[in-house]
Amino acid sequence: MYNIGLLVIATGKYDRFIPALYKSMKNHFLKNHNVTMFVFSDQEIPKKEDLKVIYQQHEPWPNSTLKRYHIFDKNKEELQKMDYLYYCDADMLFVDEVGDEILPDLEFDLVATEHPGFFGGGNSYEKRKESSAFVDNNEGEIYYAGGFNGGTSEAFLKMSEVIKNRIDEDLEKNIIAVWHDESHINRYLIDNKPKVLSPSYCYPENLNIPFEKKLLALIKNHKEIRS
Ligand code: GAL
Repeated sequence: MYNIGLLVIATGKYDRFIPALYKSMKNHFLKNHNVTMFVFSDQEIPKKEDLKVIYQQHEPWPNSTLKRYHIFDKNKEELQKMDYLYYCDADMLFVDEVGDEILPDLEFDLVATEHPGFFGGGNSYEKRKESSAFVDNNEGEIYYAGGFNGGTSEAFLKMSEVIKNRIDEDLEKNIIAVWHDESHINRYLIDNKPKVLSPSYCYPENLNIPFEKKLLALIKNHKEIRS
């Protein structure tokens, strides 16, 4: 039985997703472990014994997604108390059992999800050499989704620190990688291979792909919700 943190960022209007996500976590997520949801938010979210709310100011798009690793790095003191850390987007829902198959193993201390748009091949890597997320044509095998990943707390927090620093370096050069944080985690995972989860763990609600549905990525009105 491990202590596991599920990290969710829900600033601004994203707080609306928390009640359903929390309920689905209780029903399906690593049920034989001691799971705590950490919600980073500027909204009033009712705390529970296993739902901690950490104040986080809302930042306008795209910083709200780009700076997620800044948030984890800033809170590392608290987060490093967990054995394992997972991140999932707020607008997701667990719809089936997610168990020990997602835990890291002896070979890999990070876990990442193959992107549901590229399981047949292809990628969305950052292609500008000036960016610290740059991936050359001969690099990378699997393109990962930014929406669900994790690892031992040590590996996850180390990754967060490295990505945060790279994003800051880019910003100083006025560069934002093409898919924000997702471009950076993809660069990082080329150099630090993870255990690979299928697109079951980032299954787009509105698509039909040949995988079991485990963690749904919900359709949302991006324009309204990011405003
Ligand atoms: C989209 C997804 C984006 C990003 C992009 C990469 O389907 O909504 O968040 O992952 O693919 O090409």
